[in-house]
Amino acid sequence: MSASIIGQAVPRIDGPLKVSGTAKYTSDHHLEHMVYAVPVGAAIANGRIAALETETARAMPGVIEIFHRGNLGSLHKPSPDAGMIDEARPPFHDDVIRYYGQYVALVVAETFEQATEGAKHVKVTYEDVTTPNVNLDLTPSTVTLSAASEVEAPLDAKVNEVSKRGDAEKAFEASPIKIDQTYVTPAETHNPIELHASLAQYDGELFTLYETTQAVVNHRNVMSAILGVPRENVRIIMKYLGSGFGGKLWPWTHGTLAAAAARQLKRPVKLVVTRKQMFETVGHRCRTQQRVRMSAEKDGTLTSLRHEAVNDAGMLDEYDENCGEATPYFYGTDNLLVTAAQTKRNIGSPTAMRGPGAVPGLFATESAYDELALALDIDPVQLRLRNEPERDQDLNIPFSSRHYKECLTLGAERFGWSERTPAIGSMRKDGITLGWGMAGCSWLAARFDAEARVELHADGTAKVAIGTQDIGTGTYTVLAQLVAEETGIALDRIVVELGDTLLPPGPISGGSMVTASVIPAVLQAVREAKKARKTSSAPVVSGTGKGKRTFGQEHPKFSVHSYGAQFVEVGWQPEIARLRVNRVVTVIDAGRIINQRMARNQIEGALVMGVGMALFEQTHYDPRSGAPINSNLADYVMTTHADAPHMDVTFLDYPDKELNELGARGVGEIGLAGVAPAIASAVHHATGVRVRELPIEIEKLLSR
Ligand code: MOS
Repeated sequence: MSASIIGQAVPRIDGPLKVSGTAKYTSDHHLEHMVYAVPVGAAIANGRIAALETETARAMPGVIEIFHRGNLGSLHKPSPDAGMIDEARPPFHDDVIRYYGQYVALVVAETFEQATEGAKHVKVTYEDVTTPNVNLDLTPSTVTLSAASEVEAPLDAKVNEVSKRGDAEKAFEASPIKIDQTYVTPAETHNPIELHASLAQYDGELFTLYETTQAVVNHRNVMSAILGVPRENVRIIMKYLGSGFGGKLWPWTHGTLAAAAARQLKRPVKLVVTRKQMFETVGHRCRTQQRVRMSAEKDGTLTSLRHEAVNDAGMLDEYDENCGEATPYFYGTDNLLVTAAQTKRNIGSPTAMRGPGAVPGLFATESAYDELALALDIDPVQLRLRNEPERDQDLNIPFSSRHYKECLTLGAERFGWSERTPAIGSMRKDGITLGWGMAGCSWLAARFDAEARVELHADGTAKVAIGTQDIGTGTYTVLAQLVAEETGIALDRIVVELGDTLLPPGPISGGSMVTASVIPAVLQAVREAKKARKTSSAPVVSGTGKGKRTFGQEHPKFSVHSYGAQFVEVGWQPEIARLRVNRVVTVIDAGRIINQRMARNQIEGALVMGVGMALFEQTHYDPRSGAPINSNLADYVMTTHADAPHMDVTFLDYPDKELNELGARGVGEIGLAGVAPAIASAVHHATGVRVRELPIEIEKLLSR
């Protein structure tokens, strides 16, 4: 057999379908007798619907029906064990408006234009309207553990202890060097190019739902609970996704509306969420405020670490961003406290956004680490090397495979870090002030349950089928590579079937865990099929495989995580107020890399997103109406090609055999982690301004 295909930079097998426009995304599907639905969103964020006037719109050309609380049919609130959903309350459940844009009616018409026009003519009157609680303007210095509960007591902020060891307060008081700072990350909105969309069909018994989802199986389970039908009566299809970034992990209210309307009308209903609605009704990364206190001996030994996070949640959810996820195990210290609390806002439910928890969390803790290094007058790379733990002190178990030190040293070498002069503004090139900063990062690695079926055909072709998704990251290609590796069959003779709940149940595309999850199931299935082939000359032989979850394990034997280091150079020109990220060097320890090209693509995309998190992205809410006001791609600023830095990506490629036999941990979110704090530290090095509230707007640098 030829050399292994594992690790090779093979191009994605679905690439030609995508560049030729042949790949069908959710809203590309058209069904016979299909009608179009456009939801009407509330124009207030806190109040009650007094009256809904629908007659005018109902009489407009092409309008078929206007759905509201009174005529949508019965919907059920899913119990938590049905599956994951952030806004669990079904649409139109009561008269209370809890956030701007909350759906209050649904116009269905023969054409999209007619439905859009109809939606403009639905008249809603409101009562008991009060000023929305969109953003309590807590100044960072008042965000302490006690302030969180005192200031926000009316909002029931409850502080939960996430992790604790030793006595952090006592060690802090006794230490010679300490820092105490509060960091803020703003609300950010997922803006995948593909809008959320649902196309629902109901034949009197079976719901067929084409959905923009990162998790077909969960979507089916939740929708069956909401619609009150058995799971086998719901089929979810998602063949291609124009990215999701976490925003498409769990079902949202528009999908329920489309399904319920299709049930009432007995016609297929297509609903595509608008870009404006994407800012209102399908989740966002919530605002966080994090106080970090660290102390050290003069030699840099970390003596205590306290990380206390507060995040915004919606009025009906308990969304916990889990900012302290990486804090308990990342660096060694005997005294630690990590807490989390939520505050209620009149905003739509937050949801996971690429690297939820750890990414905003690492902005706080890695920024604080840089501030501690400055206070100690120790190089930030050296400080991190000094506090490398022997084992996971949180769970008191060994690491499965941790090469963080090598990420730091190799990254420093590739970047040229030894040339750095620490004084503020001391480095210049071509008349531009340079700032060099760095940060470390970590991300969880685990497996979800997965089942797979592999067929070997007598004509030398093969098929692998699994009910997972490719959200644009390369899962089609990884699945084909696994079959190719075991059989020697060429990639173009392997058919990959995914994105359908009729297939064996596969994992969610979340947490960068699909690759690690599917390996055991697919390898087992293909080996079973090969065995069957030995004794049979049937046209088709097949095998099945199953992989078990490690995610959420109660007593893991090993601490399994990915690691990385980010080194950043910014260029700063105060004369023209121009800040650029020139280059990023990143070294990633994500286990064995299955496909170099797609892994690199994931990391590069995440780095570009990290520039956006550091410099540009934030959702503004109007304090009067509660409306996200920059709800379009002109006013919501994101990284463009012109803003993208030069990127140098290296994978260490040490297999992590505790996770699966190939040792792959999965790659994606780890690339975003550490970017924002590295940029913030580089900006400080260039300008002397420490920005603790993202994004790093130019104004913050000029106000000095
Ligand atoms: Mo990712 S936020 O788990 O899609």
